[in-house]
Amino acid sequence: MLPGTIERVADGELKDALASHLEETRDHVKRVEEAFRRAGAEPAAARSDALAGLHRQHESQQVTEQLLRDLLDATAAVRVEHLELGLYDPVLELARALDNDDCASLLAANRKEEEKALERVGRIAGRLRAELPR
Ligand SMILES: [Fe+2]
Repeated sequence: MLPGTIERVADGELKDALASHLEETRDHVKRVEEAFRRAGAEPAAARSDALAGLHRQHESQQVTEQLLRDLLDATAAVRVEHLELGLYDPVLELARALDNDDCASLLAANRKEEEKALERVGRIAGRLRAELPR
């Protein structure tokens, strides 16, 4: 989740979850770069059209009510974490198929944190959804 989104979130638990995961994501980048090096490849930044599309769609939502805004931010985080898990799975399978345990362990560590982040923001989204007026 982007720092600007974290700033505008009012729900303390969601803000903490997003900020913590942003820090984890910085570690993920380092692990992925290390996995590339261990595989003898040079890491390079690549833009994800899927992530960019999710972000564009999310930012186009014109919602001013704070609880609903937080719920939409939490839901967007859930979508992003699902996408990230889907990106890790085939690369992790490839590393394991190639018996590259060094790379696999780095990628598996990232995947585990993505999974935990998904569980956390999913739980928060559920709570926020339950708080919506009926
Ligand atoms: Fe993530």
